[in-house]
Amino acid sequence: MKKVLVVGYGTIGQRLADGVAQQDDMELVGVVDAAVSLGIRALKEKGMPYQLYAANEEARKAFAEIGVPAAGLMEDALEKADIVLDATSAGIGAQNKKIYQEKGLKAVFQGGEKNDVADVFFHGYANYEKGVGADFLKLTSCNTTGLIRAVDCLNRKCGIEKVAITIVRRVADPGDYHRGLTNALQVDQAPSHQAVDLMTIMPEIEATGILVHAPVTHGHFITVVATPKKDITVEEAIEAFREHDRIRMVRLEDGFKGNASIFKYARDLGRPRGDLYEICIWENTIVKSGRDLMFGIHIPQESVTIPETIDAVRAALHMDKNGEEAVARTNKNLGLGAWKEQR
Ligand SMILES: NC(=O)c1ccc[n+]([C@@H]2O[C@H](COP(=O)([O-])OP(=O)(O)OC[C@H]3O[C@@H](n4cnc5c(N)ncnc54)[C@H](O)[C@@H]3O)[C@@H](O)[C@H]2O)c1
Repeated sequence: MKKVLVVGYGTIGQRLADGVAQQDDMELVGVVDAAVSLGIRALKEKGMPYQLYAANEEARKAFAEIGVPAAGLMEDALEKADIVLDATSAGIGAQNKKIYQEKGLKAVFQGGEKNDVADVFFHGYANYEKGVGADFLKLTSCNTTGLIRAVDCLNRKCGIEKVAITIVRRVADPGDYHRGLTNALQVDQAPSHQAVDLMTIMPEIEATGILVHAPVTHGHFITVVATPKKDITVEEAIEAFREHDRIRMVRLEDGFKGNASIFKYARDLGRPRGDLYEICIWENTIVKSGRDLMFGIHIPQESVTIPETIDAVRAALHMDKNGEEAVARTNKNLGLGAWKEQR
């Protein structure tokens, strides 16, 4: 059993902790945080299913003040871990890296850190082998993770020459107030970082894209125009996406009208917090433009990077023979692809 510590128990950290706890070959040492938040209060009310460590003395005092029992300080937790999943606020991971280096610990960082925090910019499907044995990996951001899943799926089927994307980006997570109460779209400088990141992970594909921030919280939406090397029909694309364990196909006629229907469906399934690990592609959006294939993806931003982060643990710690076995094990432990049996 490999011992995994999650540092930063926020939106992503809470979900990473749950994902690690579900793996049959990993043990969650506990979680670390630096401040009292609703997530920490919820952990207490749930009866402390995970050991909580304080990032520093100040945090330990703050936890004690609300009656949360801290199991110790972060340095105590680091002694017990084989690897750290750092899900702290963007930029803190780079500072924490020095501590991990001093302890000789491997770590996986999330998308908000700069790329140079890690030796490998990682995606479980597209470049698993590069992560094998690496000390510091950085996960692609939520949009990039989902985008690469879909593009990699098509790339394996017919080879992809180039893609052009448009991202409608949710501006905040549910419960966030720090972006204000907005009703506006905000346009970013092109090309979007997700397109540039895709080329870093899949250098054989030329990519560009536009991003617009939208005042919604339940998921991003990406449209992709992909130029295949070998012709692909709409039906063949649907078949390839359907076979993928981290892609769920949805249809308008079944009631999946948009991001809110998908969030509601996840809640109806009883998924914790209404989380989905899988991206969703609307069958109805898959069309041809000349030789190009166009489609629309829903990205559940809070949970989409969890499976690929667990793949990163597998790669860094040499836990599986190859990428295919690694992603299959992560998928099995997280129940991914189980919906395919219902068809
Ligand atoms: N929220 C998303 O949709 C999303 C999606 C993909 C990737 N990410 C990335 O994941 C990372 C975490 O984002 P988030 O949305 O979970 O942030 P968050 O603000 O919800 O959580 C960050 C947590 O880290 C804690 N923290 C801060 N400093 C710390 C320290 N020194 N030691 C321990 N804990 C500390 C904070 O108290 C907080 O609980 C970022 O890099 C972000 O870019 C976020």
